[in-house]
Amino acid sequence: MRIIVSPDPVATGASAAHAVASAADHRPDLVLGVATGSSPQPLYRSLAILVRAGLDLSSATAFALDEYAGLAPEHPQSYHSVIARDVTAPLRLDPDSVHVPDGAAADADAAAEAYERAITRAGGVDLQILGIGTNGHIGFNEPGSPADSRTRIVDLTARTIADNSRFFPDPAEPVPTRALTQGVGTILAARRIVLVATGEHKAEAVARAVAGPVTAAVPASFLQRHPDVTFFLDETAASRLSPTVRVQPVNA
Ligand code: F6R
Repeated sequence: MRIIVSPDPVATGASAAHAVASAADHRPDLVLGVATGSSPQPLYRSLAILVRAGLDLSSATAFALDEYAGLAPEHPQSYHSVIARDVTAPLRLDPDSVHVPDGAAADADAAAEAYERAITRAGGVDLQILGIGTNGHIGFNEPGSPADSRTRIVDLTARTIADNSRFFPDPAEPVPTRALTQGVGTILAARRIVLVATGEHKAEAVARAVAGPVTAAVPASFLQRHPDVTFFLDETAASRLSPTVRVQPVNA
């Protein structure tokens, strides 16, 4: 596990974007795993600048990590909408090559299996971009999610629902409570993982993920078992890491 600390969220995003861009330079038909949420936004913005400067991602494929259950894809806060807005358009990806789990499917189990099959058919994910929840979740794998879990429907914890409520400010509209998410095992099958975390509110989850025991209580701690993970952090998200962890590769 590598830890790269930058002064602020914009620099963190730029640093992570260069890692993604260099992977795409080596492999134009890169299969990317993409997270939604606030953390990867500066990464996507930096990557979009590189795309405008000539980086070609038109042959890449992308798989979103998750989607709210029961939210229409056209809803502005559905991850279908967020990915189209923040990833597909600015990165000039081919919309036919961008996949998001079908959270509105009547048969969620069938939709989950179809998503796993689509990832396998694409040859697996080359580079997975992740955020981390304040409770240590990755994707929507909440505490208690096993290391070998695959794409499935899950209940969100009260803490995640509260964290996500900022995206649903209209009190008449309930915050989604369930999601279709790639499993921890699905995420760990990616060949390379780039996690972005910024802000003091992520410091505890980051410290537990990087240096705590590997446990389902902190699903991000399973990343310690992956051979190629880089945490891109800003100073505040890194503030609870010991200096030794910050300057030396962990488990390298
Ligand atoms: C998003 C996702 C989540 C977020 C996490 C952090 O697709 O799977 O795991 O990465 O909830 O969200 P932010 O970045 O908004 O703090």
